[in-house]
Amino acid sequence: MSIVQLARPEIRSLHAYEAAEQVDDTIRLNANESPHRCAIGDFRRPLNRYPEVRPSKLQQALAERFGCPPRQLLVTRGSSEAIDLLIRTFCRAGADSMLVSSPSFSMYRHYAEIQGARVIEVPASAEQDFAIDVDHVFAACDETTRLIFICSPNNPTGTTLPRPDLERLLRERGDKSVVVVDEAYVEFGGEASVIELLDRFDNLVVLRTLSKALGLAGARCGGVAGPRPVIDLLNAVQAPYALATPVVECVEDALRADHLETARANVSVIVAERERLADALRDFDIVTRVWPSDANFLLVRFVDAAAVMRRCAAQKVLLRHFGGVLEDCIRISIGTREENDTLLRTLESIDGDSHG
Ligand SMILES: Cc1ncc(COP(=O)(O)O)c(C=O)c1O
Repeated sequence: MSIVQLARPEIRSLHAYEAAEQVDDTIRLNANESPHRCAIGDFRRPLNRYPEVRPSKLQQALAERFGCPPRQLLVTRGSSEAIDLLIRTFCRAGADSMLVSSPSFSMYRHYAEIQGARVIEVPASAEQDFAIDVDHVFAACDETTRLIFICSPNNPTGTTLPRPDLERLLRERGDKSVVVVDEAYVEFGGEASVIELLDRFDNLVVLRTLSKALGLAGARCGGVAGPRPVIDLLNAVQAPYALATPVVECVEDALRADHLETARANVSVIVAERERLADALRDFDIVTRVWPSDANFLLVRFVDAAAVMRRCAAQKVLLRHFGGVLEDCIRISIGTREENDTLLRTLESIDGDSHG
């Protein structure tokens, strides 16, 4: 059975929107655009014209960066949009379910709730560094489970799912579930992207983003790679003209070799800072645990997380508190060396108080 049989029947019979034809050097009276060029901005493509329905040059460049054939990639408005498209494509409201490990990125559940898809949660234990137990995943799946979201490295724990476990998951779920590997933070870990497994598994879908390692969160650009029939379905669901001309041109520029080199160097600095910060934090008495991380953040447990949040806010340092979900845990994004030093000084002062 083809994996697309898992998609909603009404999506399987949906045709992609037929946009007005776009041909260079023609008189364009077919798209209700303005004939007057807008004076704002200095873009290669005039803003009075609609962008390409799907930006082909960008798709080519991103496919090359991610390491998949262009026809197996859909460029999306951040990877968030890809999560939404997948859930809308595969889950019938009130009938189908999707599985997530817990704790993980909260947007999976958010989009599931909008779609009316049931969420099956498989908890990962803090004592085992939040490793996902694939046997627990198999046990929790039922015949309605269309999607399995694996965030690797995981937000907020920084944990990577070992490759043999992922391959087992892909093999055993076969044509029963699409396994979605969210690699938003993959550049910060030591493992290669699992995109190279696309040739071997036709139930694998991989999410990538430019928001983290490439420093382009404001551009809202990412991508979803997978088997061609799945990408075709997602393409039919995605809005036409999804990416605006300024975004397309900005990202095309950001993918030039010199910018990529700078981004690579920035990632190395962030990884070095992450390890420096982790070592320093482990020496504080107010810190009870620092989990190893393959991402651009650390998950840290404090004696009193609320007090740490208050003192940091007073110093204009914002952190993310996971109280309730993970008792006394705070996720700390890695900043510049100076920003991290400011954080360490603030924590030192709390640590000092705790002795006095
Ligand atoms: C695991 C994970 N996936 C996806 C995203 C969404 O990223 P974006 O929509 O900016 O590509 C985030 C953002 O924080 C994330 O942590």
